[in-house]
Amino acid sequence: MNRTLTPLDRLLIDAQNALGTVFGNVRAQRANPGRDEAEIVLDDEERRHAAGLMRVNHVGEVCAQALYVGQAAVARDAGTRKHLLEAAQEETDHLAWCADRLRELDSRPSLLNPVWYASSYAIGALAGLRGDGWNLGFVVETERQVEAHLDQHLQQLPEADNRSRAILETMKADEARHADNAQAQGARILPPPIPTLMAAASKLMKAIAYRV
Ligand SMILES: [Fe+2]
Ligand SMILES: [Fe+2]
Repeated sequence: MNRTLTPLDRLLIDAQNALGTVFGNVRAQRANPGRDEAEIVLDDEERRHAAGLMRVNHVGEVCAQALYVGQAAVARDAGTRKHLLEAAQEETDHLAWCADRLRELDSRPSLLNPVWYASSYAIGALAGLRGDGWNLGFVVETERQVEAHLDQHLQQLPEADNRSRAILETMKADEARHADNAQAQGARILPPPIPTLMAAASKLMKAIAYRV
């Protein structure tokens, strides 16, 4: 079926995505990369630390969903919109895997997920309103920052937590590909101070989401 979606259709699809993302009922299409790693018993402090890091990553994926869906809502070109929604689909896998791992670690997603989603959707839509070059530039910058952040988390995870590590490694490879694809589609380089502001916002998010 290939009918054109009306603005109301799109709004309803976005609302459905928001609810699924925020309330955690999303399904991964790919198997969890950590499933073949043996579950090592972590001590309490290690478990809490791993859960804090995985909660941050889960929030990162909530934000990624919201950013891309927000950007897609205002994208002018159908190709750009398709690209954004495809990237969002892979982020759904990340979201589901992080949620699985949080459950295994006896923890929970951030209580502030509705706030993270709403603010990221607004930022995505604002970025998208500047035009498709900006839209794609925003994807490249986001994904590059996430890639660097995942590198840090890979260092910070408890040594024995190979299940979380396997998830983050697959995510990192996906994020790098998302950035490369957006670059190839004609992303423009975001001018200062936007990348710095984005990094500051995500630093604040990480500090809060580690705990709440
Ligand atoms: Fe992701
Ligand atoms: Fe991504």
